[in-house]
Amino acid sequence: MEASRFAVAILAAGRGTRLKSKRAKVLHSIGGKPLLRHVVDAVLVSTPPERVFVVTGHQAEAVEAALAPTGVRFVRQTEQRGTGHAVQMLRPAVEGFSDLLVLSGDVPLIRPETIEAIRGFHVEQAAAMTILTARPENPFGYGRIFRTAPDRPDVAAIVEQKALRDEDLHAGEINSGIYAFRTVPLFANIGRLSPENAHAEYYLTDMAAILRAAGERVVALETADATEVLGANTIAEMMQLDAALRLNTAQRLMANGVTIFRPETCVIDAAVRVGADTVIEPFVQLLGDTEIGEDCRIRSYSVIQDSRLAAGVLVRNHCVLDHAAVGEGAMLGPFAHLRPQSEIGRGAHVGNFVETKKTRLGDGSKANHLAYLGDAAIGDGCNIGAGVITCNYDGAAKHPTQIGDGVFVGSNATLVAPVTLEKNSYVAAASCITDTVPEDALALGRARQTVKPGWAGERRKKLRKP
Ligand code: UD1
Ligand code: CA
Repeated sequence: MEASRFAVAILAAGRGTRLKSKRAKVLHSIGGKPLLRHVVDAVLVSTPPERVFVVTGHQAEAVEAALAPTGVRFVRQTEQRGTGHAVQMLRPAVEGFSDLLVLSGDVPLIRPETIEAIRGFHVEQAAAMTILTARPENPFGYGRIFRTAPDRPDVAAIVEQKALRDEDLHAGEINSGIYAFRTVPLFANIGRLSPENAHAEYYLTDMAAILRAAGERVVALETADATEVLGANTIAEMMQLDAALRLNTAQRLMANGVTIFRPETCVIDAAVRVGADTVIEPFVQLLGDTEIGEDCRIRSYSVIQDSRLAAGVLVRNHCVLDHAAVGEGAMLGPFAHLRPQSEIGRGAHVGNFVETKKTRLGDGSKANHLAYLGDAAIGDGCNIGAGVITCNYDGAAKHPTQIGDGVFVGSNATLVAPVTLEKNSYVAAASCITDTVPEDALALGRARQTVKPGWAGERRKKLRKP
């Protein structure tokens, strides 16, 4: 027998009516990644992208754009007339392949190992159609598998929920929407599908009975873990899968030495890396391409997106980090806001209500309270006082602030950019700085205080009079 040559199809053309969303269902994210991307990534573990065909239709441009980096191919289904119709669209593309694996774009937790298992079983059973099945706690809404006999792999038919007879409503073995087909019998018989059903659609599921009637072998392979084939048809179902996925991620991190208190309250994306002995408190979000070193502590209510934290960083409560880099042993927060291109040096402190943007704060420098530091390059060992503001925007353009090593900026100073404070200079509190402060200089930029003795007492007396 010649070796099987598999193509893979992923059905993703449907609208997802039950989601009641403007966005195509397969583009909704769980675990920080679109449903469809989960399926594609699982498939690409064993199949080169030029053998993967994604059927698109509803919001096809957006769906195809989201997958562009993967190199998979696309087949358009301009009218969504059912899963059977979607597979009909694939016929020209998969010509020359002996077998076709079909997956659903909305069954996202499927594991590469299970994809391999159905492929292997299909070949071993020499079946025309192999159906991946499961027995979830609640089979409601899924198509059900009817075997020819309970202990046999052979399937007589798949019956959709709406077509179930009363006595079959509790049938427990569901169709996962994942199948392997031999292409010759599939396409020789697919023309027999008819849209005479509750949705007036061409159901791919009807191929089980059709192929069997044509004398072909149709078999089922049951997965041990039903959660990996659960579908995402509603927001509630999606959020259940999201929770399952994130708990997996948390467990993987904990297995690698990370302490996560109350992991069910944390939102951690699958790609996040965390070093051993780091502690994550409840209600923390770690998102996107985030990497956290060893021995860090991330306190509750902090949200860290696409950021890099070196070892030993303390992120106190309620910090927001977005595309930021933080050096070893730095301390942030509570309530620090590090916006994109913030670079915090080793051992630096960014305290409460300090916002940074496109700013480097050097090693050991401190901005402990109430500051805005934007478009600034700040050297090592600086002290940025409470309430210091870089005035980086003149209403039209952004301007840089340069601060050398060892500079002391007094509280409530405003630094009107572009401006330079040379190293070891000193800015007096409440100064408005518009010109260069030379090395080692003191700059004062404020009105002198005047004192009027007795003035307040006189005023009080006047006010007391009728
Ligand atoms: C389908 C199965 C059901 C199974 C369930 C598993 C059918 C008729 N039923 O039901 O037996 O238990 O999956 O999750 O197949 N799609 C297209 N073009 C279309 C219609 C759908 O590409 O014209 C795509 C959708 O985008 C989706 C997938 O096919 O990714 C499944 O479609 P969906 O409508 O969600 O089928 P279910 O009702 O869940
Ligand atoms: Ca579905």
